[in-house]
Amino acid sequence: MTKFIIEGGTALQGSLAVKGAKNSMLPIMAAAVLSSSTEDIVLQNIPSIFDMHVMTEILRSLGAKVKFADHTLRINVRDLHGFTIPEALMREMRSSIFLMGPLLARFGKVGVTYPGGCSIGPRPIDLHFKGLEALGAKISEEGDFIIASAPRLQGTEIHLDYPSVGATENLIMAAVLAQGKTTVNNAAQEPEIVDLQNFLNAMGADVRGAGTETLRIQGVESVGRCTHRIIPDRIVAGTYLMAAAITGGELLLQDIIPSHLDAVVAKMKEAGVLFQVAESSIKVTESKLKAVETLCTLPYPGFPTDLQAPMMALLTLAQGKSKITESVFEARFRHAEELNRLQAKIAVQGRTAYIQGVEKLFGAEVEATDLRAGAALILAGLAAEGQTVVHNIKYIDRGYENIENDLQKLGAKITRI
Ligand code: UD1
Repeated sequence: MTKFIIEGGTALQGSLAVKGAKNSMLPIMAAAVLSSSTEDIVLQNIPSIFDMHVMTEILRSLGAKVKFADHTLRINVRDLHGFTIPEALMREMRSSIFLMGPLLARFGKVGVTYPGGCSIGPRPIDLHFKGLEALGAKISEEGDFIIASAPRLQGTEIHLDYPSVGATENLIMAAVLAQGKTTVNNAAQEPEIVDLQNFLNAMGADVRGAGTETLRIQGVESVGRCTHRIIPDRIVAGTYLMAAAITGGELLLQDIIPSHLDAVVAKMKEAGVLFQVAESSIKVTESKLKAVETLCTLPYPGFPTDLQAPMMALLTLAQGKSKITESVFEARFRHAEELNRLQAKIAVQGRTAYIQGVEKLFGAEVEATDLRAGAALILAGLAAEGQTVVHNIKYIDRGYENIENDLQKLGAKITRI
């Protein structure tokens, strides 16, 4: 079992470039199966992270040829034959569910099992199913498998009960080849949905409205190929900004889209972090951490749930009492207990965490309980006095490409053992 050993107390200094977004790349990789082209789809700015490799294996199991080199993926779906995703791969990653919409659209049939993924509380997929049924799919359970079938999906009007990111993406991908027009109301508005729309349209689809709450998809007969560059990962960017701030360092983050981080920068400013924001970069210049009265995670453009844990780490050292409410996921506070092992003062009541800022954190042995919780523990370890050991770092590798290399470049004392 690998772990990170961190000697805390060094202020991070330097600059970093941010690679492509995991949450963009995964649905876009899945969307590749929609293509009728015999040529490669080329995806650039791809991070080499665990979840990318799992999605690659899933595509290969369906007959796709996938090559990865120099942060570029070449996907060829000419010989795609399968429409059932192996159970073992489904369980590896929740995002495997993204293949349901595009495979159904392409083959008229798809077989999946319930997906796995990080343990951040219950994550139902009812909205995916409801939407696909509205498009005309028949969904039934056969043993462990969920089978969806529809000779050809039919465009319709869908109103999502909640702006689920995954359901929105799944339904866009399903509707691309449907007959007629589909409208998705109360759609998620995340930048990754805009990226998916841009990718699909570059392949010949007709999707409009991404980034707003109403999406309109005019079904087309087929889509071809394209070369597409994945947008920068705003969650990785946010994590690194917080790493600089918690250590009292100075960091220039390049190759990012600052507007994707508006809510994050605003909250960090409230917490006493000073920034210089430019066209494609953000610089943390100084931090005098102070508590934030209230922070509530929300769908985009609100504060992202994926940065709730790193932000909590930051607030453990902020003067005063902060309050965080997690409104997106039911049980996403497991990192609070781990942060308390470093002598943070966090009390959790239901979906709210109360953080009493402390003067110092002290190194301890902790366990990453999910991807972003793991990142939060690294941040806390970087700021803590003494040595912190983070176990279970396989979670962190799901979403950060060699996080230790990036942090070492900035002067952090972190080693993978
Ligand atoms: C995506 C992101 C994840 C992020 C989350 C919220 C990817 C690969 N993952 O996950 O990093 O934390 O958005 O920003 O893009 N829900 C239902 N029924 C459903 C679907 C969702 O009740 O059918 C609920 C979930 O349980 C959760 C909430 O809706 O409470 C948000 O989930 P959703 O937006 O779907 O997140 P994911 O797409 O799984």
